[in-house]
Amino acid sequence: MNVKDLLNLKGKIIAVSGGAGFYGKSIVEGLAEAGGTVIIASRNLKNGQDVANAFRLKGLDVHSMQVDQGDHKSVLSLKNNIYDTFGKLDVFVNNAVARPMKKYDDPMQNFSESMRINATGMMDIVREMCDLIGESGGGSVINISSMMGMYGPDLSNYEGTDMGNPPPDYFFHRAGIINLTRYLARVLGKKNVRVNCVSPGGLFNNQPERFLENYCKKVPVGRMANNDDIKGIMVLLASDAGAYINGENILMDGGMNA
Ligand SMILES: NC(=O)c1ccc[n+]([C@@H]2O[C@H](COP(=O)([O-])OP(=O)(O)OC[C@H]3O[C@@H](n4cnc5c(N)ncnc54)[C@H](O)[C@@H]3O)[C@@H](O)[C@H]2O)c1
Repeated sequence: MNVKDLLNLKGKIIAVSGGAGFYGKSIVEGLAEAGGTVIIASRNLKNGQDVANAFRLKGLDVHSMQVDQGDHKSVLSLKNNIYDTFGKLDVFVNNAVARPMKKYDDPMQNFSESMRINATGMMDIVREMCDLIGESGGGSVINISSMMGMYGPDLSNYEGTDMGNPPPDYFFHRAGIINLTRYLARVLGKKNVRVNCVSPGGLFNNQPERFLENYCKKVPVGRMANNDDIKGIMVLLASDAGAYINGENILMDGGMNA
């Protein structure tokens, strides 16, 4: 088959959790630009609708549905809503993250709340979406982790800023999702569900000047990720061009950890 046809996502129904967030918007845009029908699964429905409307004005087939991945009923209602509206699911991008913990010595309740959403809730939504993809004949799941799920924090990035050290829960659950990827790839193979993970570096978001200086001098390409950087890898993993990529974690950090 021609590689352009292999990469074409026309006819594929794709759900992106946290699709109205920073990386989420770029992921949604890239998958829709490649021809996919994309559902922003967002905790705040109004936010999701606003983002979906803006993409529709650009001619992209983007929809919005509500979900709180910390609430099992809400996860089931998303699953039913996708099935009732589109009759199937081909691709799930497991992208949502909650950030209740801000620093190393925050109260343990904040760590527990993080696990409720980012571990238990994340497992709940990915399992339900995998079931729906399996019932639809198979497809692709793409977990979004972070380079912070692969390496310890580089504290020198924060020198001279008032950003403080990054919180520990993030390093814990981002690492967990990487090995969960390998587990799911093996267990769901017989249902024809491929599972991969993308671990991006930091996305440019007008961070403080000193942070940008500290960070960018360590990146061989000399910059933070921009809004286009994640699109290509998402399209590859979602599409039939990625049909033999399974159980992988792909670091996308501009070479920072090379
Ligand atoms: N921003 C970065 O620089 C960066 C770097 C590396 C990796 N990542 C990864 O990218 C992914 C997205 O992060 P982001 O930076 O875009 O964050 P973000 O905060 O902009 O977006 C996260 C989204 O998840 C949603 N969410 C939170 N709790 C939820 C819940 N209970 N149910 C449903 N949705 C919920 C939020 O509403 C938000 O829309 C994460 O997996 C993160 O680890 C981000």
